Amino acid sequence: MRQICPLILIAVALSAGSAVPAADLGDPTAGKKIYRRCSPCHQVGVGARHRVGPHLNGIFGRKAASHKDFKYSRAMIRAGDTGLEWQAETLDIFVKNPRSLTRRTRMSFPGLRSKKDRQDLIAYLRLFSEDPAVRPDAEQSVSSAE
Ligand code: HEC
Repeated sequence: MRQICPLILIAVALSAGSAVPAADLGDPTAGKKIYRRCSPCHQVGVGARHRVGPHLNGIFGRKAASHKDFKYSRAMIRAGDTGLEWQAETLDIFVKNPRSLTRRTRMSFPGLRSKKDRQDLIAYLRLFSEDPAVRPDAEQSVSSAE
């Protein structure tokens, strides 16, 4: 069996060594535009559901492949079981090249080369892992609930 875990730990340790976490430098407004690359397959925000890929609400701190109602590849399940957890650092590595962490992932996305694009995107995704009130579409769902 391929050993994934040590590689991930090394990658996380390396990026954690820099003074500022990747996502803190990002601009979520710019990230929203970058997210259009992900939205054909992923949803975020109030009412987000699984599509081709799982929804990405609350992704920060989540173990990889942990939605029970989504059918992940065996590669992604194995990555989760061997310790992959989504944080700014691991998301950055994954989005740069999805096959770097999970060689046989079903996510067919070539990767975002620009570091700035990745930082902005991760800052945008972080909104959906924080207080629900800051979600960009929270207002809309409040009014439709009335
Ligand atoms: C062509 C469709 C497609 C695109 C485009 C895509 N994804 Fe995915 N994504 C998937 C699929 C399918 C999976 C499940 C992969 C697996 O099980 O191996 C996935 C899995 C993921 C996961 C792991 C989720 C979990 O619950 O563990 C993250 C994080 C993710 N994608 C982020 C992104 C981001 C960010 C983008 C845009 C830069 C993106 N994806 C673009 C299809 C896509």
